[in-house]
Amino acid sequence: MGVEVVVEGLTKTFGKQVIWEDVTLTLPAGHISVLLGPSGTGKSVFLKTLVGLLRPDKGHIWINGHDLANCREKQLYELRRLFGVLFQDGALFGSLSLFDNIAFPLREHTRKNESRIREIVMEKMDLVGLVGAEAKLPGEISGGMRKRAGLARALVLDPEIILFDEPDSGLDPVRTAYLNQLIVDLNAEIEATFLIVTHDINTARTVPDDIGLLFRRELVMFGPREMLLSSDEPVVRQFLNARRHGPIGMSEEKDISELEAEAQMGHEPGRLPPIPPQLMPSRSGLRRSQRPPGTWLAEHGVIPPPGSFVDEQGRNWLDEYPRLVAAHLDGVR
Ligand SMILES: Nc1ncnc2c1ncn2[C@@H]1O[C@H](COP(=O)(O)OP(=O)(O)OP(=O)(O)O)[C@@H](O)[C@H]1O
Ligand SMILES: [Mg+2]
Repeated sequence: MGVEVVVEGLTKTFGKQVIWEDVTLTLPAGHISVLLGPSGTGKSVFLKTLVGLLRPDKGHIWINGHDLANCREKQLYELRRLFGVLFQDGALFGSLSLFDNIAFPLREHTRKNESRIREIVMEKMDLVGLVGAEAKLPGEISGGMRKRAGLARALVLDPEIILFDEPDSGLDPVRTAYLNQLIVDLNAEIEATFLIVTHDINTARTVPDDIGLLFRRELVMFGPREMLLSSDEPVVRQFLNARRHGPIGMSEEKDISELEAEAQMGHEPGRLPPIPPQLMPSRSGLRRSQRPPGTWLAEHGVIPPPGSFVDEQGRNWLDEYPRLVAAHLDGVR
């Protein structure tokens, strides 16, 4: 069903280098959260710290009442079993077939017999659309297929929490769209807690329930998708709208003089683009954590930018939500 992950005051350094400091956030159970941030801000380090591959210097990671950041090895081993991780490069074994790659965690961590392993592997391969490719080696398939194989492997132990490190890097826009749909469908089906690190703004804008942004060694903001997509915070605004003008520069941090020059040139933040509707599951009804469009905005008296919640077919999800949901449910039945 997914478990809540509560991160409190987390700090990570390597020698004298502070990666991030005092990070506090809650990944709500069963939600899809996205973590954004310029290259090198420590997103991968954050995921590795969450699964206990790296130890933080300070802070807590609460899961089911246990502090993963400060527990003994034996407890850590138990807690790690709650996680499935899709690493940045897929991390498949090049000399093993896809079947054996996906079966690997089962053979390593369980005492299931081969016929049961076969059942589980085939079920997960079906889930990610890889049936028929069991005998292929990772080197023989496309990048998109490798990502899906990595995902199938992350799923075999039925994780409660799934971490995705740039699942969409190196994929073309069409494959990225398929993968995003797969992630949403998967969440609808298994209801685990998802955290996705991505550089893809379109993914961040349409997939998650919550968004966080790491910048200059801190978590600038973490909260509901609609909160960040309507935010006036300059870094959040620049990043989520992929703008060149703002606090983030090519070398990650612009200096003050550059920012002042920009301000004098009159580069105002500009108007916010419309907030897109959230991606719906394609094979089932609504996800448990999905809220009607505009919920957060209405609760906080924020008026969405014009054109928000209109999909590519021109349907307005804000005005026609009950009808569109009913039509969607009819469609997937
Ligand atoms: N094991 C390690 N030892 C020392 N420094 C490390 C280690 N792992 C990562 N770092 C440093 O931590 C910083 C953050 O790295 P990280 O890989 O988390 O960035 P990232 O946000 O994932 O970037 P990208 O978007 O390019 O994947 C980098 O400066 C990196 O050199
Ligand atoms: Mg990374």
